[in-house]
Amino acid sequence: MNAFQLNYLHAMGIQPWQSKQPAPSIIDTPLQENLTALRAAVARCTACTLHKTRTQTVFGTGNPQADLMLIGEAPGFYEDKKGEPFVGRAGQLLNAMLQAIGLDRHTVYIANILKCRPPNNRDPLPEEVSQCTGFLTKQIELIQPKLLLALGRIAGHYLLDTQTSLSQMRGKLHSYGSQATPLIVTYHPAYLLRNPRDKNKAFQDLQLAHRSLNLTITPSTRLE
Ligand code: URA
Repeated sequence: MNAFQLNYLHAMGIQPWQSKQPAPSIIDTPLQENLTALRAAVARCTACTLHKTRTQTVFGTGNPQADLMLIGEAPGFYEDKKGEPFVGRAGQLLNAMLQAIGLDRHTVYIANILKCRPPNNRDPLPEEVSQCTGFLTKQIELIQPKLLLALGRIAGHYLLDTQTSLSQMRGKLHSYGSQATPLIVTYHPAYLLRNPRDKNKAFQDLQLAHRSLNLTITPSTRLE
């Protein structure tokens, strides 16, 4: 419709019909746009009380096309200040752990179960986990990693839907979700800072992760 026709309809008091563009779908748009939209949804979230005490949400960081996705528990003091996962002391150890298997933190993707810091770094409450994990599910769906590495008991329990001990979960390949994404559980770096004797076992888990990324993966492969 040209300007003359529009003016004519306007003078007649007629509202011209306009075709409505469908709202952009989170499925159809490219990966980066989907992650940006998801990040914005996380930043707006007020589903649980943690939004009242957070400085900011901590979405995730790294390469959105990474083969390896690491999943921690929840932001701590420094992560809440910076808006990025694993930037405190535990993060420095995590970087060193990744380097030990020849990986840089920018080549993997890192996220947490919770996107907001629990006060005083307490464990996440079950209702906080259930309110928040829709975001993580979507992140995993978008990134489609070849391997998930759960850091610590809380991440292992959630991703494997179990309550077993970390020593039972670590050292073998599990699978996660309907895509049966291979999953390995290892110690949380904050635990390793307190219990350095278990660093050796964590290194074995990382070597398993490294091998699994390069090999055809057979679920239930035991390391020991
Ligand atoms: N611990 C976690 O589980 N995640 C972080 O981002 C920092 C510390």
